[in-house]
Amino acid sequence: MVKIAPSILSADFANLASSVQVVERAGAEYLHIDVMDGHFVPNITIGPLIVKALRPQSSMFFDVHLMIENPDRYIEEFIKAGADLVCVHAEACTHLHRCVSQIKEAGVKVGVALNPHTPLNIIEYVLPMLDLVLLMTVNPGFGGQKFIPEVIPKIKILANSIKEKGLSTEIQVDGGINIETARLVTAAGANVLVAGSAIFGAPDPAQAVISIRAAAN
Ligand code: DX5
Ligand code: ZN
Repeated sequence: MVKIAPSILSADFANLASSVQVVERAGAEYLHIDVMDGHFVPNITIGPLIVKALRPQSSMFFDVHLMIENPDRYIEEFIKAGADLVCVHAEACTHLHRCVSQIKEAGVKVGVALNPHTPLNIIEYVLPMLDLVLLMTVNPGFGGQKFIPEVIPKIKILANSIKEKGLSTEIQVDGGINIETARLVTAAGANVLVAGSAIFGAPDPAQAVISIRAAAN
């Protein structure tokens, strides 16, 4: 079963709680929260304060995507604020195993994200520890970018290796996901679809959640 993860990066920041409730009522499983620091990516977005403020407003699974340098310094704060899963970029962690362990020991789920150009073998020795691998299908930093189709074979290879190893790791994709690309990525083996502009930029975000799910299944 495919899970839908609306990214609040494209939501109305003046009315965040109500935007979140719309996608929650539409059945979206994960709330994707994009954290950017202006260093790892050229944009600055959400901090733990926003996560904390949203937490009592929703019972969705909070999927926190850290696009920040030295994420180990902030993991605890995001968990305290209400993250259910913390996802760090392999490219931002010199000691990836330590970062992954830190998240697991704090008792939440753990993900590792890879930029489009980053080879899968960087996560080979931590894969059994992970709940989720996020394969970026755009270069991180902004919503509304074009899907990078070169990532499709990477999804297939990862899906095969998860299957071969008998793991239950989720494969999340993020960037340029809409009704058309949802089909391609799920056919390749992705099972958690992040969508920002295709949901919150749509005239009816609730319907967009339903349509993306229908296209994916
Ligand atoms: C990009 C972020 C995404 C972004 C996706 O760096 O990680 O989560 O919100 O936006 P869309 O779906 O518009 O490509
Ligand atoms: Zn994201």
